[in-house]
Amino acid sequence: MGISEEIISEFNREFKKARVSGEPEPTAMVLATSDGAGLVTSRTVLLKALDENGFVFFTNTHSIKGKQMAECPRAAATFLWKASGVQVQLIGSVSQVSDEEADAYFSTRDRGSQVGAWASDQSTPLESREALLQRVREIEIEYDGAEIPRPPHWTGFVISPESIEFWTQREFRLHDRILYRLEDGEWSRQRLNP
Ligand SMILES: Cc1cc2nc3c(=O)[nH]c(=O)nc-3n(C[C@H](O)[C@H](O)[C@H](O)COP(=O)(O)O)c2cc1C
Repeated sequence: MGISEEIISEFNREFKKARVSGEPEPTAMVLATSDGAGLVTSRTVLLKALDENGFVFFTNTHSIKGKQMAECPRAAATFLWKASGVQVQLIGSVSQVSDEEADAYFSTRDRGSQVGAWASDQSTPLESREALLQRVREIEIEYDGAEIPRPPHWTGFVISPESIEFWTQREFRLHDRILYRLEDGEWSRQRLNP
């Protein structure tokens, strides 16, 4: 059971509102992952696609988040759209996108970012910035004149939500909170106290 059309429309409507209100990075979401033993970590990633299957972002599977998602395939994400006074939170399971989808997205990235995906061993210690730039030069030489393939450790993840909450700022802290929850294959809609 995927995300309902009603919820996707509401998300898209709020996303557009954020953009026209001047939100500088409306695709940015704070992604929380866990090792399953109680350690929770968070960081910002960019939303790259949304359909009934969920919210897609791309990252390195060797990173802290990548290792945590392998151990505990669940995540939470929060969008803050300050300019329009909206927050969207979601909680759900995570899975990798298909290799075809990851390849298709990787091929649209600019060459510098493609090189960077190979050069950066994300989240591991780095001796110096120079060491990273040296690695970039090595990758550039290796793929000189050739198409750069997607690194096997760089892919997309889709968060398939089981709950999504839309929070809208209102006067006197009497904010609106609308929670959608997936239960027994049906999406419910409920208003929460602010
Ligand atoms: C605005 C913004 C967007 C970012 N987008 C991504 C992204 O889409 N994918 C990614 O792997 N890291 C992205 N980062 C970097 C992450 O926040 C983080 O530093 C990195 O992924 C390593 O995270 P980890 O060590 O917790 O796994 C972004 C950072 C910022 C500030």
